Amino acid sequence: MAQFQAVKGAKDIFPEEVVRWHYIEGVIRSVTSLYGFSEVRTPVFEYTELFQRGIGSSTDIVGKEMFTFLPDPNGRSITLRPEMTAGVMRAFLQKNPGAGVPVHKLYYIADLFRKERPQAGRQRQFTQFGAELLGVSSPAAVAEVISMMMQVFDTLGLHGLRLRVNSLGDHEDRMRYREQLRSYLEPYHDLLDEASRERFEKNPLRILDSKNPAVQEIVAGAPKLLDCITIEGRAEFDRVLGYLSDRGIAYEVDHLLVRGLDYYGHTAFEVVSAELGAQDAIGGGGRYDALSKELGSNSEIPAVGFAVGMERLIITMEKQGLFATLCPHGPQVFVVLQDASLEDEALRIADRLRRAGITTETDLAGRSMKAQMREANRLLAGFALFVGQDEVASGSYTLRNLRTSEQLSLSIDAIPGVLLESSKP
Ligand code: HAM
Repeated sequence: MAQFQAVKGAKDIFPEEVVRWHYIEGVIRSVTSLYGFSEVRTPVFEYTELFQRGIGSSTDIVGKEMFTFLPDPNGRSITLRPEMTAGVMRAFLQKNPGAGVPVHKLYYIADLFRKERPQAGRQRQFTQFGAELLGVSSPAAVAEVISMMMQVFDTLGLHGLRLRVNSLGDHEDRMRYREQLRSYLEPYHDLLDEASRERFEKNPLRILDSKNPAVQEIVAGAPKLLDCITIEGRAEFDRVLGYLSDRGIAYEVDHLLVRGLDYYGHTAFEVVSAELGAQDAIGGGGRYDALSKELGSNSEIPAVGFAVGMERLIITMEKQGLFATLCPHGPQVFVVLQDASLEDEALRIADRLRRAGITTETDLAGRSMKAQMREANRLLAGFALFVGQDEVASGSYTLRNLRTSEQLSLSIDAIPGVLLESSKP
C-alpha cells in the first residue's frame, strides 16, 4: 500500500473518468445556456458566520459537518463551503448593494466540503452542479428552474427519477406547524431514535424526513404542513404544480419533504433515484426569499435554485448504462520509430503534425517497435506512422490505419491532410 492515501472521503479522478465528467459538464453548459443562465465562480472558503446565518445553526450541516479553521490566532473563523447558495447570495449582495437589481440567472459546477461519514454517494469533498435564479421566485420562475434541472437529466438519458415536491409555506406557517407537529409527536417521544429526539428540540420538521423505518411509521400519521399554509400560499403552490403538469413533468407531492437547510420557504423539491440506495437524493432545491435579509440585505431578494450531486449523477448514469456510447478518444496518430537513431526525426515529425492540429503520440522511452505498437493500441491511436531508415531516405512514409490495417505510402507533406480528412465525422 502506498505510504500516502487520499484523505478519507476525498477521491482521485483519473482520465478514464474525467471523460465522463467532461461529457456531463458539456450537457450542463448547453442546457443552462438554453435558459439564459451564466456561470458564477465564488471562493472555496467564506467567513463561518455566512453559513451559520445562511444555512441555519440548527441544521446538521452547520452543527456538525463544516470544515472550519482559524487562519491565524486573531483572524475570523473561516469555513470550506459546504454548499453554494449562501456564497452566491453573498457575492450577489456584495456586487449589488442597492435595491432594484434585475433578474440574475447563475449556474455553477463547484467542489464542496462536508464532514459526513463517507459511504457510497456520500463524500467529504464532492461536486455539485447547481443554479440560482435571483430577483424572481414566482410560480413560473420555480417551474422554469425545475424544468431546466429535469432537461439536464433527460438530455443525459436518465430514466426512473422521481421528483418530490412540497410547500413549506412562509415563516409563520412553519412556526404554527412546528407546534402542531410537536404536540403530535409528544406521546411518541420515547419511541423516537436519538437523532429524532435531538431534532424534536431543535428542528422538529427534520424528523419528517428520517430514514429510520420506526420513525417513518410514526410520522406517517402526522399532520400535514401543506394543511397549515395560507390560502394564498396554497394557490401559489398549485400554480407551480400546474406549470409542471403543463410541461409534462411528472411529480409527487410529498408531505414529508422538508429539506435540510433553513433558508427555504414555499416550494421545495428533491429528485431521488432508485439506483442510489441509502443516499437516494440526486438533487434538491426550492425557494429561498428569506436568505437575502438573513445576510443583511435591506430588501428581500426573491430567489429559487437547486443543486445536483455530480458523483450521485455519475453513479446513477453508470447503473443505467449511459456511458456505454462514450468512446474514449485516443491520439489520431502514433509515430513509431524503427530505432533510437531516428529519434530526432520522429520528434520533428511529431512536432510538425501537432502544429497542423493533429493529436500525436510518439515514443519517449526508447522502446522496441513491437512495444511501441502495443502502446499505440493501448492508447487507442487511430493510425501508426512508421519512421525507418528507408522512409527517411526515400521521403515516403507508411501510414497504417489501426482499425482497418489499410496502409498508404505518403510524402510527409501529404500526411496531415490525410489524417485531418480521416478524423472528420
Ligand atoms: P443539498 O440537498 O444539501 O442542497 O445538496 C444537493 C445535492 O448535493 C444532494 O441532493 C446530493 O446529490 C449532493 N450532496 C450533498 N451532500 C453530499 C455529499 N456529502 N456527498 C455527495 N453528494 C452530496 C444544497 O446544497 C442546496 N444549496 C441546493 C440549492 C441550491 N437550493 C437552492 N439553491
